[in-house]
Amino acid sequence: MRVTIDLPLAVDREAAVPLAVQVAGQLREAMRTGRLRAGERLPSTRALAALLGVSRTVATDAYQQLYAEGWLDGRHGSGTYVADDTLPYEKPGAQVIETRGSVHREPAPPGWVDLRPGRPWVFGYDTAAWRRAWRSAGELALNAFPDPYGHPELRELLADHLRRARAVPVGAGNVMVTRGTGNGLDLIAATLLGPGTRAGVEEPGWRAARRIFASRGAEVVPCPVDEQGVIVEALPDDLRVLYTTPAHQFPVGGRLPIPRREKLLAWARRTGAIVVEDDYDAEFRYDVAPLPALYGLDPGRVVLLGTLSKSLGPDVGLGWLVAPADLLDAVAERRMQLADRTSGPVQRAVATLLERGDLDRHLRRMRLEYARRRAAIVEALGPYVRGDTAGLHVMVTLPAGVLPGLVRRAGERGVLLDTTEPHHLGPPRVHGLVLGYGSASRADVRRGCAVIRELIPPAEA
Ligand SMILES: Cc1ncc(COP(=O)(O)O)c(C=O)c1O
Repeated sequence: MRVTIDLPLAVDREAAVPLAVQVAGQLREAMRTGRLRAGERLPSTRALAALLGVSRTVATDAYQQLYAEGWLDGRHGSGTYVADDTLPYEKPGAQVIETRGSVHREPAPPGWVDLRPGRPWVFGYDTAAWRRAWRSAGELALNAFPDPYGHPELRELLADHLRRARAVPVGAGNVMVTRGTGNGLDLIAATLLGPGTRAGVEEPGWRAARRIFASRGAEVVPCPVDEQGVIVEALPDDLRVLYTTPAHQFPVGGRLPIPRREKLLAWARRTGAIVVEDDYDAEFRYDVAPLPALYGLDPGRVVLLGTLSKSLGPDVGLGWLVAPADLLDAVAERRMQLADRTSGPVQRAVATLLERGDLDRHLRRMRLEYARRRAAIVEALGPYVRGDTAGLHVMVTLPAGVLPGLVRRAGERGVLLDTTEPHHLGPPRVHGLVLGYGSASRADVRRGCAVIRELIPPAEA
């Protein structure tokens, strides 16, 4: 370990800013810009004080502040280090890439803490298992006529996965292999919607669902949610399709209780609507028993959409659509008309991950890691946190007036945040931060939460 005593630190005794704040600020900047890297050792407080010509208390106060913010780690009797990432895999510096239009989310610049929701940890998979999966994909002969339903063996494996992981009583005949939730939702929309139809989306809710429905010509109807999920009494009777996230409402985080699930299905039976259940992050659940998927409660009225985007990563491009057989046939027919398909080699690679238990092992490891990150958020921001029983994000409730200033000031300190506001179609009705902990290391989560905690005005604390 290199002892980093050659940093260009300096204090200004004339400045109004206390010396410890100056020192902490310069160290923070050095860590943020990558001049000081994870795992590097810092000088002892005595050495730092001597180097800067300040008292040891100044050095101790500066380190304590940075500990509290999560920038530093102490190791038993062996000094002070720049906090490490928590998984044994190096997190590569995020590449800054060109923005491809406003919908493309740019990665955070290197050294920033990115607490925006939507991205999983894509560095934590077992690279040997991944290579093995692709070797087996490479052995597969290319298929001149891809099956619109997907590879039969993968459909079996996914049905088995759903029975085990989600207790969904499903056979391979009800499963179609898609490229992810977005693809599955678009296929449903292309099959069931069009001009003159109305499609409900939770409000606030997943923006992509609104865009997909609108792009297929449907009128999008915002359907309000509360802390538990979609409010059934507020649903209109003329929806052809309702998109909902009962396992972990996006973005508020509610888990739809069983009586409400039953009410929702009774509504669907009465009105003839199809309920599209987006099960996007249901593999991750903390301290609570699983609730049955809507699909399992009424396989005749529900389409279940799943994805590997949260467990493995969106780059894989694989998901599943589970539907009643006649609807699945209609979707397959439409899919062929649209020349839409899932890559055969990707399906083979994923089948290998499932066959060998690699995906289950990965999920177990990530569950543990995400649970720790989520615990770090609850520890730092407990009273404000909602929707933390599942998934990769929580909501932090704060008054609307506080949010813009807090987000701006956090940005000035290198912490990227998102709020509930842009997830509404109409005027915002739910206010708070949507904190994602998928793509930030545990150290970054702690660091970001310490900044948020400091920026919450005393009146709200
Ligand atoms: C609510 C919700 N559903 C699903 C997904 C994943 O979509 P896909 O499988 O198309 O990557 C996301 C990703 O951000 C999401 O936020």
